[in-house]
Amino acid sequence: MARSRSSTEDIPQTGKIPRHIALIMDGNGRWARKRLLPRIAGHRRGSEAVRTLVESATRLGVEYVTLFAFSSENWRRPADEVSMLMQLFISNLENEISRLHRANIRVRIIGDLTRLGPRLATLIAEAHALTCNNSRLTLTVAVNYGGRWDILQAMNALLRTHPDKAGGDVTEADLTPFLSMGDTPEPDLFIRTGGEQRISNFLLWQLAYTELYFTETLWPDFDAESLNEAIRSYQQRERRFGRTSEQCCAPDS
Ligand code: IPE
Ligand code: IPE
Ligand code: MG
Repeated sequence: MARSRSSTEDIPQTGKIPRHIALIMDGNGRWARKRLLPRIAGHRRGSEAVRTLVESATRLGVEYVTLFAFSSENWRRPADEVSMLMQLFISNLENEISRLHRANIRVRIIGDLTRLGPRLATLIAEAHALTCNNSRLTLTVAVNYGGRWDILQAMNALLRTHPDKAGGDVTEADLTPFLSMGDTPEPDLFIRTGGEQRISNFLLWQLAYTELYFTETLWPDFDAESLNEAIRSYQQRERRFGRTSEQCCAPDS
């Protein structure tokens, strides 16, 4: 697997439009509660917001969008909500995959997929196979994903492949290819909707130098203008990667 440039070992190229946006889509339950609807109604509206987001991001020239759909801790929710979320994920994959393929979008699902059941496993494999050569945008959906799980599975896979490393001396370059998104540039912009200001075990390794943006907007209400607003905030940031402001302004920085 090709390795992407690391924000701690190199200074990544940055532009006006973030190359990679990672999102925690939070607030579906509260959106539904405000309308006296069941939580699943919020999740359904949340799926519609995903469609809008992907269209807007594609139009803006964003290359990678990574969405947190279900965390390794979301199994702690009531069983009926978990089951409805899985059903919704299945129907979204079934209904959306051809449209995404026609839009030249590569779809990837990351996370511990061993717990997801055979129907989802088949759909995920089909989605990967159908869209793997698409190049307009890579849409990564994290399901049963946890940042700690990712780092641990990468370390375990590394040690299985290179037992000689067990004595120590593991480097970033050794580990990165085994991470779920080791071939993807690190996110430039992280967006969390729903007002909470936390990472909730999302991309712990990859967010090292990502610009963080939090909004009170609930995920089902997040529209094209909400994305523009997040990007405007991003455009005001100075991404120093440890350097001084003067160094960042220098023409050859
Ligand atoms: C995010 O919305 C979706 C998932 C975690 C699956 P929530 O369901 O967490 O919505 P709130 O936070 O309860 O409003
Ligand atoms: C984070 O949202 C996970 C997803 C959006 C999939 P949560 O609603 O689960 O996060 P916490 O529990 O409030 O931190
Ligand atoms: Mg939540």
